[in-house]
Amino acid sequence: MNEKKWGSIMEAPRIKVNPPGPISSGMLKEQDKLETASRSYTKIFRTAFDYGRNATLVDMDGNIFIDLFAGVSVINMGHGNPDVIEAIKHQTDKLTHITEVPTEARISFLKTLDSTLPGKMRGRSKIFTTVTGGDACELAIQMARFKTGKKVIVAFGGSYHGIAGNIVSATANPHYREYSGNDYINTYHLPYPYPYRFPQKVEPEEMSKIVVEDLENLITDPYAGTGGIAGVIVEPVQGEGGYIVPPKNFLPLLREVTEKHNVPLIVDEVQTGIGRTGKIWASEHYNITPDIMTISKSVGGGIPISMIAYNQDYDKDLPPGFHLGTYRANPLGLAAGNVILQKLKNESFMSDVQKKGQYVIDRLIKLKEKNKYIGDVRGLGFMIGVEFVRNKETKEPYGEIAQKIKAEMFNRGVLIHTCGHYANVIRFMAPLTIEQQLLEKALDIFVEVVTNISKSN
Ligand SMILES: Cc1ncc(COP(=O)(O)O)c(C=O)c1O
Repeated sequence: MNEKKWGSIMEAPRIKVNPPGPISSGMLKEQDKLETASRSYTKIFRTAFDYGRNATLVDMDGNIFIDLFAGVSVINMGHGNPDVIEAIKHQTDKLTHITEVPTEARISFLKTLDSTLPGKMRGRSKIFTTVTGGDACELAIQMARFKTGKKVIVAFGGSYHGIAGNIVSATANPHYREYSGNDYINTYHLPYPYPYRFPQKVEPEEMSKIVVEDLENLITDPYAGTGGIAGVIVEPVQGEGGYIVPPKNFLPLLREVTEKHNVPLIVDEVQTGIGRTGKIWASEHYNITPDIMTISKSVGGGIPISMIAYNQDYDKDLPPGFHLGTYRANPLGLAAGNVILQKLKNESFMSDVQKKGQYVIDRLIKLKEKNKYIGDVRGLGFMIGVEFVRNKETKEPYGEIAQKIKAEMFNRGVLIHTCGHYANVIRFMAPLTIEQQLLEKALDIFVEVVTNISKSN
């Protein structure tokens, strides 16, 4: 454990040359020639990075950035975390790929993961490994379909579960298409109880009831048009949809109704998991036990691994080859994941995350009171969103100002990203290990940038 000596570069942000500097510009041009024009992040963060230290990133021209982005909430433990790197290096010397056959890394990881699972999942679940978050969600849906023999999935407006998929329809063996494939168009989207924008003007707890009653009707009414529900997939806090925290009773009600009707509840913890919300899993905040839970992003510390945890009863009669692939959890990612999950089991680490998150929320609420364009500040743990509107009465979304703020933050040396239905939400998802002092600095810059841009509007 040599983490004490490691940390962010505390002089950050330091902009020596306006990004992209000459070296980065050259590299961006080379990339343009060789890689698809459909890249997104190079349009937002116009530079080339050299290395990272905890919540700081150094670009090729020597600029030092504060990272409130964490590679889309993947680097929860900070860039170059020595314990994580040591585990990966150790595993690299032993074995870098073997697929599903047991290794020490695999068995240790599985045991550690099981010991963290929420509610009644612990000790009663099976793990099925995949590669990306989207992949895990696909598998979760396959599993629900297998369990129920039905096709239709209920999801929620604003949800994001990945975009890969349906490639299976090009694979010739129909066996692989039985529970996945094009039938995904059989998805119903119910409104997510988004307290700031719910269509009916009712109390938050009432929103959950309205949504869950609609769901129950879809499940039980033979003329609802679904032909039967195979499963419900939900993000416990919506990520790409706008860092939306649902009312407290939403997940418990959802759990109650799905359990009552034997409909598998898939909780997508790809973004909310691995400590992001101040507990290892967001499900823990709501005391619910998912039937199937998807896990990815930060679990591999940057090595792409993903998986589902599911009720072990579903294993009965599950055919081999139900879901396949060459990469069934890379040993490097598993070694990293084992260390990461062990760290998260430390209660003082998690309470520190909650404190940092609360600090950010408190400062943003103060800013909101003085600023005419901030309509809403919300968050759970260190998953925090600020929603911009043109007018606090009409709540007309103001995506342009959020984009301007993001660009100016980058110019000032802070990486931050947007999300939301109208790309009008700025989200805070720094590494959970960010130093308080650096976090304060980043917030000072954010307050200044938002205030200046708001004045000039
Ligand atoms: C909640 C959630 N599920 C699934 C995904 C898809 O993960 P991936 O991009 O690894 O396919 C994401 C990605 O942001 C996500 O936030």
